Amino acid sequence: MSTAAGGLHRAEAAAAELVRRADAVPLLEIADLRVRFDTADGSVQAVRGVSFAVEAGHTLGIVGESGSGKSVATQAAFGFARGAKVSGRALFEGRDLLTMSEKELRAVRGARVGMIFQDPLTSLHPMYRVGWQIGEGIRAHDRSATRRETRSRAAELMARVGIPHPHERLDDYPHQFSGGMRQRVMIAMALALRPSLLIADEPTTALDPTVQAQILELLRELRDDLGTAIILITHDLGVIAEIADDVVVLYAGTIMEEARVKDLFRDHHHPYTEGLLGSLPSAGVPKGELVPIEGQPPSPIDPPPGCPFGPRCVYRTTTCALRAPPLVEIPGQLRHRSACVLPTDPVLRQSARAAHRPAVAHGAPQGR
Ligand SMILES: Nc1ncnc2c1ncn2[C@@H]1O[C@H](COP(=O)(O)OP(=O)(O)OP(=O)(O)O)[C@@H](O)[C@H]1O
Ligand code: SF4
Ligand SMILES: [Mg+2]
Repeated sequence: MSTAAGGLHRAEAAAAELVRRADAVPLLEIADLRVRFDTADGSVQAVRGVSFAVEAGHTLGIVGESGSGKSVATQAAFGFARGAKVSGRALFEGRDLLTMSEKELRAVRGARVGMIFQDPLTSLHPMYRVGWQIGEGIRAHDRSATRRETRSRAAELMARVGIPHPHERLDDYPHQFSGGMRQRVMIAMALALRPSLLIADEPTTALDPTVQAQILELLRELRDDLGTAIILITHDLGVIAEIADDVVVLYAGTIMEEARVKDLFRDHHHPYTEGLLGSLPSAGVPKGELVPIEGQPPSPIDPPPGCPFGPRCVYRTTTCALRAPPLVEIPGQLRHRSACVLPTDPVLRQSARAAHRPAVAHGAPQGR
């Protein structure tokens, strides 16, 4: 009885979410984003037709191995990817960022979008005091702010992100802060103008697990208190599980799978996601026993046709090499899509996987 009632509640909640999300206008809508860099070695296809959306107040996680295009995709959408050839659409609050002038883009970025770049040490200027650096954003958009007001707002922001004794620390330099505290300074800078979107690129990678948990908790709090949407970029599905509502799994500049986080962890579809999950530390599994994904991503210069994950995939068949599978809906789940020929039906998929598994035991997958 209680199970049936529980099932009914879950179905009602899912239906309510469906209606709510169908009504929601995304804050950011990226469509068919393509980014390439023309280099002496050839044309680097960093992002190859990526589409995703971020809803106000939600957290989208973008996950993938190094070089998969996580940073370039978000930077190119907001005009930060210098020297890149960018096409597609990037609607932010209804306006296409890719058709804006540099001046318009600067205005949007400064006032509506906070960026936390991948490396705090290169983003924070070592020679300027942190209070001044946090105040720079405030001054750029509010020229009427006096020096005293700017300092006081900078200290408030430092307090908001959990930096103890903020008034005393305004005049310290970045090297006087620990890694975790520097990351908090970066977040304070990004929040200076109460952005509607915060882009956090690997905000916890260099931090030890305790500090990492504190930073994720802070981001969660800020999202809930201020209603700020977050794009969180990481190579770690564990971080995604901690904080994100939705997730996009990127590989070789293309989306392999996208889903609500709870669906991805309950019932992932794509073999690349399976590989990422297999290399995820979990309770009771010592780090040395984690299973890394064998092989390397394809070269971003002239990537071969077919499924980009094919050469590393234990389930590949001859058809996989012919053309890259499109993203298809997984029936019965909200916005869960995967770019793989494996059956979308969970039972058929399990048997397709099982049919391939013995081959894995006899060796790593071979390139085509
Ligand atoms: N300025 C550039 N010129 C040429 N290639 C570039 C440039 N910037 C990035 N790339 C290439 O674009 C691809 C995607 O890079 P990107 O930095 O987005 O990867 P990432 O997923 O963020 O990786 P990481 O986890 O290491 O940060 C890579 O192959 C990278 O070498
Ligand atoms: S399309 Fe084929 S090669 Fe690609 S992930 Fe699916 S099974 Fe593997
Ligand atoms: Mg990156």
